[in-house]
Amino acid sequence: MNKLAILASGSGSNAETIAKYFANHPSIRVVCILTNRADAGVIARAERLGISCHYYNNVEMRSGDAPLQLLRELEVDLIVLAGYLCLMTSPWLVAYPNRIINIHPALLPSYGGKGMYGHHVHEAVLAAGEEQSGITIHLVDEEYDHGRHLLQATCLVRPDDTADTLASRIHTLEHRFYAPTIEQYLTQDL
Ligand code: GRF
Repeated sequence: MNKLAILASGSGSNAETIAKYFANHPSIRVVCILTNRADAGVIARAERLGISCHYYNNVEMRSGDAPLQLLRELEVDLIVLAGYLCLMTSPWLVAYPNRIINIHPALLPSYGGKGMYGHHVHEAVLAAGEEQSGITIHLVDEEYDHGRHLLQATCLVRPDDTADTLASRIHTLEHRFYAPTIEQYLTQDL
């Protein structure tokens, strides 16, 4: 069994979609969710899903000591970032080389890097007058939004879009593609 840990800082709609996708999978399972926000929506979702959820503050997350100890105990094989707003430090990268996946709500390498998260991304895309945006699912390395791409998918940007309407179109893409891309990476690429 391939065991996944999901790290999330926000509402957790991607975390929930991924957990449900793998709930009855023959060889992949989400075994825990970690968050660095004590008030994150993902905590209630984890409870509803019956998946253990653990809070660590940013200092604990950056040092990696306690969370990585937990992941070792749970024998986690792959870490999935789903709206996780904290840089992965070297203890994480050393413990999980090529085994941390992120999703970014734009077509990298554009609109990525420090400060490019959430509505900031969509506002920048709209301000630049882009006709399309999309998602990038990629491996994580020591730079923000930088590692090898596993998948990109696009959507149109409409003339009357706001950051909210574009975010919602992007979310639809994320929910459709994130879990199958994780599945393909685990079963075919690794
Ligand atoms: C997603 O748009 C993801 O790409 C970004 O943060 C958002 C998380 O949304 N990194 P949710 O918490 O999964 O609903």
